[in-house]
Amino acid sequence: MKENIIVVGGYGHVGQTICRQLGELYPGKVYAAGRNFTRAEQFSATTGGKVKPLQMNVSDGFEPDMANRVKLVIMCLDQSDTAFVRSCFQYGIRYMDVSANHSFLAEVERLQEEACFYEVTAVLSIGLAPGLTNLLALQAKKLTDHVDTLDIAIMLGMGDQHGNAAIEWTVDNLAADFHVVKEGGEVAVQSFTDGRLTDFGAKLGYRRAYRFNFSDQHVLPRTLGVPNVSTRLCFDSAAVTGWIAGLRAVGLLRLLKLKPVRRAVVARLGKIRFGEDLYAVKIDAKGRKDHKAVYVECFLHGRNEAQATAQAAAAVAERLYGSGLPHGVYHIEQLFDLDCILHALGPEVTIETRIDGQRVLG
Ligand SMILES: NC(=O)c1ccc[n+]([C@@H]2O[C@H](COP(=O)([O-])OP(=O)(O)OC[C@H]3O[C@@H](n4cnc5c(N)ncnc54)[C@H](OP(=O)(O)O)[C@@H]3O)[C@@H](O)[C@H]2O)c1
Repeated sequence: MKENIIVVGGYGHVGQTICRQLGELYPGKVYAAGRNFTRAEQFSATTGGKVKPLQMNVSDGFEPDMANRVKLVIMCLDQSDTAFVRSCFQYGIRYMDVSANHSFLAEVERLQEEACFYEVTAVLSIGLAPGLTNLLALQAKKLTDHVDTLDIAIMLGMGDQHGNAAIEWTVDNLAADFHVVKEGGEVAVQSFTDGRLTDFGAKLGYRRAYRFNFSDQHVLPRTLGVPNVSTRLCFDSAAVTGWIAGLRAVGLLRLLKLKPVRRAVVARLGKIRFGEDLYAVKIDAKGRKDHKAVYVECFLHGRNEAQATAQAAAAVAERLYGSGLPHGVYHIEQLFDLDCILHALGPEVTIETRIDGQRVLG
């Protein structure tokens, strides 16, 4: 009988929280999987056995016996190809992925026909960014008749903890060149350039955020039909943000392409702790409502970004496990709205929406 949930990367930073939450809902059916069985066992023990340990390397794929008992896979690591995803589909296993890596997510999207053929649902973009950013963008869109421009900004606290895979992803994208959609066409942009002053709300004030290759900006032009979408990143320390932008401007971030430099920076960032563990998202949407120009702002603040990612993912997992969702490959905003996920975020999360400067939702 298909009833198990495998969280691949389940004893990692994001995976642990997903496992704990789902372990409470489905005790004994959730498996924390990774390549190191001892780590999986140690983590399982901290859950009182509600989450079980599993040794698994995604490169090796499934044991058929195990696959036939799995209903849902939640992927908490970055994969280099879609072989494992396709094997999930072939075994009739529902699939979710917290990856923020656009090129990989685009490859999974191309498996739409395969997902329909095997009658499974896959949900992508399920963390903070992408994830909650997509749902806030949807919320902004719903308050207008038409959105012309969406500017998304994410602020991460230097005092927050991030897993190794998340730090590697961020470092690999610091010097990235990528394309964004502008007026329906593609334009080339560079990470940590084109700074934009963003109002993160009364508590945090204005910060300058810079272009960053989050996947939401590649997906939302299609899923929400918005012709101009950008995503930017900054840190709670304006000095650190400015310092990185300066290194980018003089070309020094290119050194991150050298393996020893990358390794040293990833290791250093894993240890740095100063400032707070907060995160914030701001959506600026400009469009039209009742034939007049309208400006919608959505603010989201909270603490512990990885926990927010895991909480959003666990809320989606609960729905996907119960299902009734259409077959195929979807991004979160194509199946859910913010209200479906809000209950899962902790009480420290605050969301505010303003239309033309007037607060409409608290
Ligand atoms: N959407 C968002 O907003 C958002 C936010 C944060 C993070 N993320 C993404 O979430 C993912 C996880 O991040 P994290 O911070 O939790 O990373 P992490 O702490 O490094 O965890 C990664 C886990 O994957 C396991 N793993 C690595 N390679 C594996 C393989 N080949 N087979 C099976 N397991 C493997 C690792 O264990 P072993 O090495 O022992 O196998 C580890 O448990 C990353 O893709 C990150 O980019 C997304």
